[in-house]
Amino acid sequence: MNSTRTSPIHDTIRAVQWHGDYLRLLDQRLLPAEEQWIDCHDTNAVTHAIKDLAVRGAPAIGIAAAWGVVLAAKRGQPLDQALAQLRAARPTAVNLMWALDRMKARIAAGADAAALEREAQAIQDEDLAANHHMGELGAALIAPGSGVMTHCNTGSLATSGYGTALGVIRAGVAAGRIAQVYAGETRPWQQGARLTMWELVRDGIPAKLIADSAASHLMKSGAVKWVIVGADRIAANGDTANKIGTYQLAIAARYHGVKFMVVAPSSTVDMATASGEDIDIELRDPAELLSVAGRRTVVEGAEAWNPVFDVTPASLIDAIVTERGVIELPSLERMRAVFAA
Ligand code: MRU
Repeated sequence: MNSTRTSPIHDTIRAVQWHGDYLRLLDQRLLPAEEQWIDCHDTNAVTHAIKDLAVRGAPAIGIAAAWGVVLAAKRGQPLDQALAQLRAARPTAVNLMWALDRMKARIAAGADAAALEREAQAIQDEDLAANHHMGELGAALIAPGSGVMTHCNTGSLATSGYGTALGVIRAGVAAGRIAQVYAGETRPWQQGARLTMWELVRDGIPAKLIADSAASHLMKSGAVKWVIVGADRIAANGDTANKIGTYQLAIAARYHGVKFMVVAPSSTVDMATASGEDIDIELRDPAELLSVAGRRTVVEGAEAWNPVFDVTPASLIDAIVTERGVIELPSLERMRAVFAA
């Protein structure tokens, strides 16, 4: 590890915090206007926080769910029921199922509440270590002084800390490889505008917000060399589900000769899912599109379609960066070489 790992100006947020007897979450629905914390004292509270996006981002929801199982164990609640309700909270990010499968295996091995607490802590700590490692691996791919673009929020808020794509950006800025970051708004929930810009500004990273619809125009200008995004599920052939709008960025990037990087821990890789065709894409309430900040902006009577993820085919991806290594031009064979089936 080089000095980027401990750079003090980057990475100051811990949004998922275990306090020994309850889980404290930074409420991502209210940022950046308000920094409010939610204290979850039982599994139901954690499940609702995941469903309602108080905690969001693939690694963060997996970590929160693991703590949700610990809360059930500490309160003597049925663990099967806790596992099932947490699993059903959101369908696309496989980190949720991965973390719950890990907890389930410990339960099957006879773990008590204290042992489950250690497992949840391990899941959280391993995620942070993976993020720092991926940051360095990803940053090494970027030429000094580059502009980059990102989508959604993949930072400390979406993970145990530091971030996946935003971790690469943090490491890249610290190493002088990234000179300028552009963040797409990420309609409709505005993870880019509300959350990524909050993280970037807070950490003193040079960043400009763009409308999602400005992305192709930006790429045509030559100002960005890489699009860097996270992932919610990476299938065995490298097809990648991520926040809605990622697919069109990958198409535009290929057209303009801009490189496309996916950054995700191995907990996001799902070798049991053959291709993107098999990934369950979450459809959320159309009301999220018909209103802005709770205020209706579209004529009454209008309908909306609100898929919140899409799938980028592996053929449009130049590199998948995981803590196990970089998979360039991903394919089933190259994925299998790193992640045995
Ligand atoms: O609906 P969200 O906000 O949970 O979606 C988040 C994303 O799509 C992120 O890009 C992904 O989870 C990677 S976060 C490190």
